Amino acid sequence: MARAHLFELIRIRNLTLANRIIIAPMCQYSAEDGCMNDWHLIHLGKLSLSGAALLTIEATAVMPEGRITYADVGLWNDQTLAAMALTLESIRRWSDMPIGIQLSHAGRKASTEVPWKGGAQFDPAHELGWATVAPSAIPYHQGAAIVPAALDRDDLRVIRNAFAVAATRASKAGVDLVQLHAAHGYLLHQFLSPLTNRRQDEYGGSLENRIRFPVEVFEAVRAAFPAEKPVSVRLSATDWVEGGLELDQILTLSQALENGGCDVLHISTGGLHPDQRIPAGPSYQVPFARAVKQVVKIPVVAVGLITGYDQAEAIIGTGDADMIALARTIIFDPNWPWHAAAHLGAKVRVARQYLRSQPGRYRDLFESE
Ligand SMILES: Cc1cc2nc3c(=O)[nH]c(=O)nc-3n(C[C@H](O)[C@H](O)[C@H](O)COP(=O)(O)O)c2cc1C
Repeated sequence: MARAHLFELIRIRNLTLANRIIIAPMCQYSAEDGCMNDWHLIHLGKLSLSGAALLTIEATAVMPEGRITYADVGLWNDQTLAAMALTLESIRRWSDMPIGIQLSHAGRKASTEVPWKGGAQFDPAHELGWATVAPSAIPYHQGAAIVPAALDRDDLRVIRNAFAVAATRASKAGVDLVQLHAAHGYLLHQFLSPLTNRRQDEYGGSLENRIRFPVEVFEAVRAAFPAEKPVSVRLSATDWVEGGLELDQILTLSQALENGGCDVLHISTGGLHPDQRIPAGPSYQVPFARAVKQVVKIPVVAVGLITGYDQAEAIIGTGDADMIALARTIIFDPNWPWHAAAHLGAKVRVARQYLRSQPGRYRDLFESE
């Protein structure tokens, strides 16, 4: 059988990934004052044994106002750093899977209830809520009572710095890769989209101006994170709304990020506007990853409804993307990479405690840590 492309090594800066399967960031809404706890150890610990190449920690707030909910993980002080360092230290004792983290600020989508309690946005006066901020004073829901405050120049400096300091903390906690969250309608995406950015200053208007703040934040993070460790950016390639952000603008931004030293681009879509109409289906975001890949040399990650082993293999094999990321797919089947390797006749890394668990009908499936 020909060698599976999905299980080829890839090197990103000084980081070697064992295959092309990435665990996408997934918010757990289970932190206390931004601190990880034993849920994160169980959840991330489980995924760290899956045989994927990289585990990405959920959207992590760089400052308390930047949380989506009161239960988001953060990295804004010594306590949040200590909690994360402890969690990662435990995982590292038993798994050598590289660990990335997504750094985020929710902007106008901040201050909401956790999803399983309805996810509604809190009034800033509510004991669990706070006042939100955004590039412009435009709420997520048209006519909503809760309007974000437009950020001024000093605020931008503070937020940029918070991203950089959080990147430093992430490295201290043992994180191997930082991903900047500029997708799904959160603050950096709000700067990119003409629907949410109506600023009159040098951070709004033309595309050059709208990409300015996200690029500045990227540069600050790149400068703060150790030079040998990679930095990635997650982008929404379209808003799926008339008049919103479109692919051609993301191509320009992708090239700007590559020129600024970005190591990986992770291409998603949507999340900015309640009127979005997403034609979701298998691989529906892959054409956007393919388009980005045609204009940059750095590796590109595709994500979204990738569930099949042959589907994943084809995305890598045809060159549509260099890696695939899985979210729901790997929660549904935490050993998805094992099954993919078995199906494609490849090998997968496994903890030594599981070596004897190799299913009888798959010979030589497991590689020891
Ligand atoms: C429970 C859950 C939490 C998520 N949290 C995040 C997040 O923290 N950051 C992010 O960029 N995307 C987040 N997403 C989106 C996923 O990373 C992914 O892009 C999306 O689910 C599509 O991949 P899938 O079809 O494999 O689920 C989340 C998705 C799920 C299901």
